[in-house]
Amino acid sequence: MPYTDLRAFLSTLRQSGELVDLIRPIALQYDVAKALAKSSAADGPALMFKDNGTKFPLVAGIYGNRRRALLAFEATEETIHDRVSKAIDAPIGPIDFSGPPPCQDVVMTGDDVDLTKLPVPTYSPKDGGPYITAGIVVSEDPDTGIPDIGNYRFQLHDSRVLGVFSAPNHRFGKNMAKAIQRKVPLHGAIVIGVDPMMAFACQVQSGDASNDWFVAGGLRGEPVELTKCVTSDLKVPARAEFIIEFVVDSEDQREEGPLGEYTGYYTPAGPKPTAKVTAITHRQDAIFQGLLTGKPITENHVLKQIPFEASILRQLQTQFPTISDIAITSSGGVQVYVVIAMTPRYEGEARQAILAAMASNLHPKWVVVVDPDIDIRRSQEVEWAMSFRVKPREDVFVVDRTAAAPLDPYTDGGYSSAVGIDATRPFGAEFPDVSEVPDWRSFDLPEIERSR
Ligand SMILES: Cc1cc2nc3c(=O)[nH]c(=O)nc-3n(C[C@H](O)[C@H](O)[C@H](O)COP(=O)(O)O)c2cc1C
Repeated sequence: MPYTDLRAFLSTLRQSGELVDLIRPIALQYDVAKALAKSSAADGPALMFKDNGTKFPLVAGIYGNRRRALLAFEATEETIHDRVSKAIDAPIGPIDFSGPPPCQDVVMTGDDVDLTKLPVPTYSPKDGGPYITAGIVVSEDPDTGIPDIGNYRFQLHDSRVLGVFSAPNHRFGKNMAKAIQRKVPLHGAIVIGVDPMMAFACQVQSGDASNDWFVAGGLRGEPVELTKCVTSDLKVPARAEFIIEFVVDSEDQREEGPLGEYTGYYTPAGPKPTAKVTAITHRQDAIFQGLLTGKPITENHVLKQIPFEASILRQLQTQFPTISDIAITSSGGVQVYVVIAMTPRYEGEARQAILAAMASNLHPKWVVVVDPDIDIRRSQEVEWAMSFRVKPREDVFVVDRTAAAPLDPYTDGGYSSAVGIDATRPFGAEFPDVSEVPDWRSFDLPEIERSR
């Protein structure tokens, strides 16, 4: 059975020792982030900050490590990619929630809207202010009406105004650009506190024509139940903890940033559009959610890695069926460093696959292709392949003037460049055998156990 809402997942986390309540006062400014960083460094649990100076509890770090991500998917390391891949192949459409939706137990509009009453942390000392980092934005393509869901950060400017940042290659950014071009308002809703499959569905790379509610339904194995917003026609998950409804104002640009981001660096401040909040609705006894982002590995990286790997693998396999696996590493922000395992079928195919990966919406800087005998999740093995299966003059190439990953701190403005490394054995040529002692795994050697 899928988790119906955030609360169902929190009970599983609690039962598994993966969620701990903090009942003493913890400050939203910096101390929440310190607690999260400390728990993460100790491979500790997610944290529920009950006394944070507001009337709402704040839970954070719920996808803070791979173990909790696997609990969310109800999968193991062995089954995870297959689980996601099959779900993407079996989309399930949303249904309308019947009855009064829990996410609108409490409705605040007009003068009652006050973002400062929410437990929004300030994470890093140079951040421009408090940030909503665990928000899922619902927006629609102004031309087609196709809904998109994605994680986007929001800076709290004042009680009714948020700062907006979306990379131009992400769908919320594309929807904003279209709305400006067509001179129509863009409505949005920030959804906070949902069942885990909806959270991970945001990160599935499924193309601009996909309706993300179908992707989320596929991952859940059951339809998402939606309800209409109170100040727009957008539909949002009925069992969410909070919904913040807004209209984008691209004329009223305000300084947004800096924010310590997933690259491990602060992104500089700059003028960005604002979101004018039209309503805040929430459940009875609602739980707010926070999320630490910054130098890898943070919850941001954990959220992206499984859906990114599964969906980019599927995209590449349509053209290159002998690609067996892909690693999009946390150290590369789950974006700029990609390792592919593949058995090339003809000379030059590895290079074609590298170019296809470079053309994906990841905008990577490094793409390495290795033979399938290399464990692509162990950097030591990948480095071994790059050391002894590469002739640098022949197998390494640079593609110049590629589109940059928007928050990469070291690029040539909007442009970047990308390195491809074909670390597969030369196609169709003799190559030395790997010298490895055979059958050592099954060799009987009780003496070493006794010596421990
Ligand atoms: C926690 C988190 C926060 C994110 N914040 C932003 C953001 O502020 N702006 C942005 O463009 N992308 C952000 N991303 C990346 C996008 O959510 C992600 O690439 C997503 O796949 C975009 O999907 P879409 O293009 O279908 O909306 C964030 C990702 C995560 C996991």
